[in-house]
Amino acid sequence: MKSTIKKCLFPAAGYGTRFLPATKSMPKEMMPIVNKPLIEYGVDEAIAAGIEGMCIVTGRGKHSLMDHFDMNYELEHQIKGTSKENMLVDIRNIIDTAKFTFIRQSEMKGLGHAILTGKELVGDEPFAVVLADDLCINEEQGVLAQMVALYKQFRCSIVAVEEVPADEIHKYGVIAGEMIKDDLYRVDDMVEKPEPGTAPSNLAIIGRYILTPDIFDILENQEPGKGGEIQITDALLKQAQSGCVLAYKFKGRRFDCGSVPGFIEATNYCYDKFYKG
Ligand code: UTP
Repeated sequence: MKSTIKKCLFPAAGYGTRFLPATKSMPKEMMPIVNKPLIEYGVDEAIAAGIEGMCIVTGRGKHSLMDHFDMNYELEHQIKGTSKENMLVDIRNIIDTAKFTFIRQSEMKGLGHAILTGKELVGDEPFAVVLADDLCINEEQGVLAQMVALYKQFRCSIVAVEEVPADEIHKYGVIAGEMIKDDLYRVDDMVEKPEPGTAPSNLAIIGRYILTPDIFDILENQEPGKGGEIQITDALLKQAQSGCVLAYKFKGRRFDCGSVPGFIEATNYCYDKFYKG
């Protein structure tokens, strides 16, 4: 199995119903935390992990995602030579550094299905997955960079996990496993959105994954699970049972920006930390 991760998949086709009406005609991933869209934070994190191939799974009404990672000649011409020009420096660097490819998921059949849709862009190599509505911040080393370093050592799929209070755990995919070293578990069970009181642990999967490409074969044969959706959790459990999947309790903070309280918390945090100066 290759030791480097060159591509990152961004499933971004979901409806974002928790943020209606804002997400009626605007992708959730384009919602800004202060002055930068969520997806750009994810792309920054991938670049910081040494990844240059950004593979974005989009859906209907998501054109602005493509436009954001393209030049806007009119605008650039308009602000050239003014004090506002430097506000586009970061996004221009991203466009110069990274290579973006897009594919559409025509039916929303779940996260597992969105990842399978990305197969055409990823090919037969290990890859990262970022759910951009989970904003992860760790100034020393980004969460994806931490996971890529682990992948180089263990060469198997890795999911990022976080301890979650008992009354919240039913919203997540939850793992159980044996701790093999500090903050690292070998997964032996995984349940998507467990019924209250039945979660196998308090370790919830958040929106960062490294996946080995055999996951695509598993997903191709995966029956719909919870909510009638093709669940990545079910496919990962199969991978764990026939090989190895690790769960990593990452260093850093995660904000669930797909929910209003998480979004507000992230906004306040980023404003204080990065914007206010
Ligand atoms: P979520 O369930 O958090 O996102 O899916 P959602 O469906 O957009 O939001 P709510 O729950 O209705 O508010 C997790 C991630 O998987 C993507 C979403 O875009 C999000 O990044 N996803 C989900 C897809 O790309 N396709 C799907 O069919 C489902």
